[in-house]
Amino acid sequence: MTDNNPVAELERRRANAKLGGGPDRLERQRRDGKMTARERIDFLLDEGTFEELDPFVRHRCRDFGMDDQVFDGDGFVTGYGYIHGRLVYVFGQDFTVLGGSLSESNALKICKVMDMALKNGAPLIGLNDSGGARIQEGVVSLAGYADIFLRNTLASGVVPQISAILGPCAGGAVYSPALTDFIFMVDGTSHMFVTGPDVIRTVTHEEVSKEDLGGGMTHNATSGVAHFLAPSDQDCLRQIRRLLEFLPQNNRDDVPRQPTEDPIDRMDPELDTVVPVESNQPYDIKDIISRVVDDGNFFEVHEHYARNIFVGFARMGGQSIGIVANQPAVLAGCLDINSSVKAARFVRFCDAFNIPIVTFEDVPGFLPGTEQEFGGIIRHGAKLLYAYAEATVPKITVITRKAYGGAYCVMGSKHLRTDINLAYPMAEIAVMGAEGAVNIVYRNEISRASNQQELRAEKVQEFKEKFANPFVAAERGYIDDVILPRETRPRVIRALRMLENKVDTMPRKKHGNIPL
Ligand code: HXC
Repeated sequence: MTDNNPVAELERRRANAKLGGGPDRLERQRRDGKMTARERIDFLLDEGTFEELDPFVRHRCRDFGMDDQVFDGDGFVTGYGYIHGRLVYVFGQDFTVLGGSLSESNALKICKVMDMALKNGAPLIGLNDSGGARIQEGVVSLAGYADIFLRNTLASGVVPQISAILGPCAGGAVYSPALTDFIFMVDGTSHMFVTGPDVIRTVTHEEVSKEDLGGGMTHNATSGVAHFLAPSDQDCLRQIRRLLEFLPQNNRDDVPRQPTEDPIDRMDPELDTVVPVESNQPYDIKDIISRVVDDGNFFEVHEHYARNIFVGFARMGGQSIGIVANQPAVLAGCLDINSSVKAARFVRFCDAFNIPIVTFEDVPGFLPGTEQEFGGIIRHGAKLLYAYAEATVPKITVITRKAYGGAYCVMGSKHLRTDINLAYPMAEIAVMGAEGAVNIVYRNEISRASNQQELRAEKVQEFKEKFANPFVAAERGYIDDVILPRETRPRVIRALRMLENKVDTMPRKKHGNIPL
């Protein structure tokens, strides 16, 4: 206490806490194209709703000259506020204070809001901008990280957890975001790596820039660690607000509804021509999705990664849904390692938070090749099977064209307890394509024949007629109905309404053992 007037002391401390690392460092932060920690929180939340907690917390380290570097708030801004009028908890790391490094004291600030988020059932948003564990504090800073990791894990599947990487994120600091549901990065200013370029140069003699190693695009397109890429801090924060529109507050909450002017029974005749007549011609699955969902409005997740599958949120009849869709425009929509893992994680998120899953299926099968087999496509493909099979939320599948082989089973088939399975009239549901099937089944017969080409063509045609349609599956009830593409929106919305009170369960167990 340095002032005898308690009110003046409070004001002095409040002002102090807002100074961050001082005007020079705040200016440098802005020059680097970054907002300050407080600017970010104010921008993220509904105006004037931020309630700060622990602004006077200080670190307790007295080694390495740290007694001269004491800041009110210890470099982290934590508290709660509202987004679209709904409660969220938030923490922001202030890089201008000791590089936003994590100390024993500011880790406790984060743990406090995490505990509150869990108890009160509201999303947690972390705005990360930190040099990692505060080096001067040693093991107590590491303990602080581990305390956070534990809470991330306990909160997983209970409240949505969202991480924005808005600066460096090095060392163990990457693992808290990695335990959360969605990671946002900013192009050019945010980086994530376990070991940086210098350590890599020393250990493996590889030369790699910070950007190539752990920049926004690297983690969005190559590693798949991040789900969203934004051009600026502001855009990133806007995207977080948008994502939250689709999510419930917690795992007991109903999915949000938003009234729509888009008629529930809207038919779209143009949908009838989106899928090409030639079954080997590509098309963009987003052309179907945008015509079917409310107001053509969807929010894609993991846009730059494993583009042969689409995952994202939208609304149908006002209700939030998760969409999983094979993308015939990329790799013909084949399932491979990355797309299986991407979709499995999304399906599990939706299931954890009661968000119905609508699947659009056009898949020629799993991608063949040694790269896939050696990389463990068996194990990774099994993740998607597992995720669909264990999901108890309402599940609806629409087969737009191909549903071949194991991929037929995986992509929300009736056999994995999908509630409503629909197919377009041009759907092809079989073990494999006609050419492949004839090559195997009639190999000997064709090799002995004098008219090999004619016989092959005849057998291919026979196979197509027999299997390249939805009716064999529909006759067995694996497909509940065959619909015209134009009918997709009303049929899916009616199914969603019918499934509103669905209850399905899993056998009693501690937890399953998804093939990780
Ligand atoms: C204490 C730190 C710090 C840290 C940065 N600073 N990181 N102080 N502990 N971890 C301080 C700097 O000393 C500097 O203080 C100020 O923050 C700004 O840092 P600069 O280096 O000037 O900024 P910049 O050039 O932008 O570089 C940012 C950076 C770099 C890339 C993050 O600072 C860096 O490499 N820091 C160390 C990263 C790291 O190895 N962290 C430990 C990871 S291990 P002054 O006063 O000079 O301005 C870890 C283990 C966790 O986190 C394990 C959990 C399982």
